[in-house]
Amino acid sequence: MLTKTVGVTALLAALSSAQSSTEVIISTLLPQVGAAPSLTPTVYDPVAPNAQRICSGYTASNAVDTSNGFTADLTLAGPHCQAYGNDIDELTLEVQYQTKDRLKVKIHPKHIAPENSTSYILPSNLVLQPEWDGETTAETSDLNLTWTNDPTFQFKISRTSTGEELFSTYGHVIVYEDQFLELVTNMVEDYNVYGLAENIHDWRLGNNHTQTFWATDSGNTVDGNVYSMIPWYQETRYHEGGNTTAHGVYGRNALGQEWLLRENNITYRTLGGSFDFYFLSGEEEDGSSSALATIRQFTNDCVGRPAMHMYWTFGFHQCRWGYENISVMESVVQGYRDANIPLEVLWNDLDIYELYRDFTNDANTFPVDAFQDFIDGLHANGQHYIPIIDSNIYVPNPNNESDAYPPFDRGAALGTYIRDPTTGDFYYGDNWPGFSVWADWLVESSQAWWTNEIVMWHNKTPFDGI
Ligand SMILES: *[C@@H]1O[C@H](CO)[C@@H](O)[C@H](O)[C@H]1NC(C)=O
Ligand SMILES: *[C@@H]1O[C@H](CO)[C@@H](O)[C@H](O)[C@H]1NC(C)=O
Ligand SMILES: *[C@@H]1O[C@H](CO)[C@@H](O)[C@H](O)[C@H]1NC(C)=O
Ligand SMILES: *[C@@H]1O[C@H](CO)[C@@H](O)[C@H](O)[C@H]1NC(C)=O
Ligand SMILES: *[C@@H]1O[C@H](CO)[C@@H](O)[C@H](O)[C@H]1NC(C)=O
Ligand SMILES: *[C@@H]1O[C@H](CO)[C@@H](O)[C@H](O)[C@H]1NC(C)=O
Ligand SMILES: *[C@@H]1O[C@H](CO)[C@@H](O)[C@H](O)[C@H]1NC(C)=O
Repeated sequence: MLTKTVGVTALLAALSSAQSSTEVIISTLLPQVGAAPSLTPTVYDPVAPNAQRICSGYTASNAVDTSNGFTADLTLAGPHCQAYGNDIDELTLEVQYQTKDRLKVKIHPKHIAPENSTSYILPSNLVLQPEWDGETTAETSDLNLTWTNDPTFQFKISRTSTGEELFSTYGHVIVYEDQFLELVTNMVEDYNVYGLAENIHDWRLGNNHTQTFWATDSGNTVDGNVYSMIPWYQETRYHEGGNTTAHGVYGRNALGQEWLLRENNITYRTLGGSFDFYFLSGEEEDGSSSALATIRQFTNDCVGRPAMHMYWTFGFHQCRWGYENISVMESVVQGYRDANIPLEVLWNDLDIYELYRDFTNDANTFPVDAFQDFIDGLHANGQHYIPIIDSNIYVPNPNNESDAYPPFDRGAALGTYIRDPTTGDFYYGDNWPGFSVWADWLVESSQAWWTNEIVMWHNKTPFDGI
């Protein structure tokens, strides 16, 4: 199962049963968990503050040339607007001509300490950070950045060869608060922008599209958030006379964000982090540009190429929630065989687990020995098997010995789970198995713990893919 809607009734029932069994866990859950009020998203709220109207913008000073660009200070140009948080008074601008086809523009707080660094700077071990090639300079770049302080700091990027303007914040202010960043770029008329995945939308995003996204399991709604966020777009322009040009814009930021595609502009907002833009010229050696070259400059040089999939993963997969036991699984495999439809891979949802707890086997419906035989049978047919493994880890009731759940205990001993910043205790939520915790992937021990759980379970349930 990929999504879950928690009914208030089910939730209250869960809470009251927990209350009778353990005080420890209930004390860490707020009573309103899962019962969030219905809010109008700011983007659709006509009375929400308009940061472009009320905020002051910044003034650049102390520009210093570097071997591949320049740096400057940005200082708040007027009063704090506190549109959605606290304005940050002093910022640093870094402009780096990284390769012939890539220009980086980064704006981040000037004063950052170890305790708040990850709020603003996305570590390169989490998301690849494109670097300077060691030779490109402003003079040898396909791209050209110009800026002004009139009336506040604004910048634009153009193609060196033709002067074609690709991105421009002229006429708009830069807003930088602890929980809200915004900038606006002017766009050509009837622009063609593609990307900003994941989304379920027309291929060409159009000029009236709001892409709001954050990396979460939130369903598959049209125009809504899907699973991953790939904050980059490719723009193609068809010029009079038949010329086509293409370029790309990548906003390296992992926080919740939105891109408002409007008639003549795009507004980019995030809930924090930094402005960390990479402008891609899309140009080939001969000076022509194309969507294909832009995409190559993004995948090969900015985020890395996707891993090559195992050959069998390209075959036909069958998966659903609701395979009640091994015989049902057997009949699915047989059904494909009878219909002469090649079946490469069979999957399971949470049905296989004991009480929806990862790394367990339901003793009645998916007993270890019989299930192993079943998977071995698939393998003997040249078929493959994949189970779901959810990110939630069940928290057993400490007052109930028969509720033991060793995967939780092993992670807890390493302190691997996300913590509630106010109490320092693990952060508990409600998910499929009930009270749950989630691994904090910024804690070093998390990967080793997770790998070990998967390997141990794989010894009993020999699924494919590792
Ligand atoms: C980060 O923390 C340091 C040290 O506490 C502080 O001086 C600085 O203002 C903080 N930066 C921001 C952007 O809040
Ligand atoms: C960059 O653009 C500015 C203003 O548009 C122009 O004056 C300058 O010559 C350009 N630089 C290069 C290297 O083309
Ligand atoms: C833009 O989209 C919004 C929301 O879907 C819609 O209400 C509005 O009519 C659209 N505007 C135009 C000009 O198409
Ligand atoms: C962007 O363009 C739309 C449509 O022309 C306009 O209503 C809006 O005010 C513009 N946004 C900004 C921030 O200038
Ligand atoms: C059209 O393409 C040619 C060859 O690539 C180039 O020299 C010319 O400047 C382009 N014109 C425009 C308007 O981009
Ligand atoms: C497996 O589940 C199906 C569907 O609920 C049921 O008809 C069947 O009796 C079950 N088989 C076994 C062996 O439990
Ligand atoms: C103890 O845990 C087991 C396994 O989860 C459960 O079946 C049983 O109902 C629990 N007992 C109490 C008193 O909650």
